Amino acid sequence: MALIFYSKDDLDRFELWSQALKQELPDLEIRPWDAPGDLDEIEYALLWKPPSGILKKFARLKAIFSMGAGVDALLSDPELPKDVPVCRMVDESLTQGMIEYSVLHVLRHHREQPFLDELKRAGTWDAFASPLASERRVGVMGLGVIGGAVAEALANLGFRVSGWSRGPRNISGVQCYHGPNSLPHFLEDVEILVCLLPLTEETESILNSELFSQMPKKSCLINAGRGGQQVEEDILDALESGQLAYVTLDVFQEEPLPPDHAFWKHPRVTITPHNAAVTAAQSATKMVAENIRRLASGKTPLNEVNLKAGY
Ligand code: GLV
Repeated sequence: MALIFYSKDDLDRFELWSQALKQELPDLEIRPWDAPGDLDEIEYALLWKPPSGILKKFARLKAIFSMGAGVDALLSDPELPKDVPVCRMVDESLTQGMIEYSVLHVLRHHREQPFLDELKRAGTWDAFASPLASERRVGVMGLGVIGGAVAEALANLGFRVSGWSRGPRNISGVQCYHGPNSLPHFLEDVEILVCLLPLTEETESILNSELFSQMPKKSCLINAGRGGQQVEEDILDALESGQLAYVTLDVFQEEPLPPDHAFWKHPRVTITPHNAAVTAAQSATKMVAENIRRLASGKTPLNEVNLKAGY
């Protein structure tokens, strides 16, 4: 029984993941990408952002595990082995990380901290009163494991939270909308929008001029979903026109963000290097191990991706 590991991300060290997995499954052989051994012995693949076509050489794969919550890179592979379950990562490290990131940046925008930073740079003392959270409408797009937990955390802080997702959801303290027809209604009074959607055909380029124009003027955007969801020219135009006041982005159409991109120097854009939430090997390997045990005893794996829906 062997597992092949692939990640080019410095955050995902092979030694860390293999040690953590070994603790859970001592009989599992964990092989790095450049030393796969006999390919027919590979039954599992644990990967982050694999290039297309790299899995087709493993003829005996029983499951493909994503190291991240988003499986867009995996599913965009036209040669992804057929009839092999793909599982996305669901782990407390990702959920907690995304709660922290969203709460931090919602509060920053709510309390107008970027504007206060501008005042400081200008040497201006201007004491204004911020509204209370109960007077601030925050919208969360994507209400899965992560988005649902974020919406709940924001509601617990007292914000007026609404959420939008593909299918119906019920979250205590959150006004839930679903489906494309309800999107304008969801957006109409959202002052701070948090995007945590998966990247699918339906969500590609969803953060565009038309969407921004349905929000109140001077609203704020936080995107920790995927860069493919944002039309970056439209974000710059909306900042220019004042439709968007401030923006926080963790994801970009091209990553790393190219050095000459206008976002780097834009005074009203906060950038983080796609590290809003990082999967922690120690906890995440528990789900991978559990899935290997389940598959070995003929059960269906947890967190299996719906290939049709794309997440
Ligand atoms: C990070 O981007 C993830 O998908 O987990």
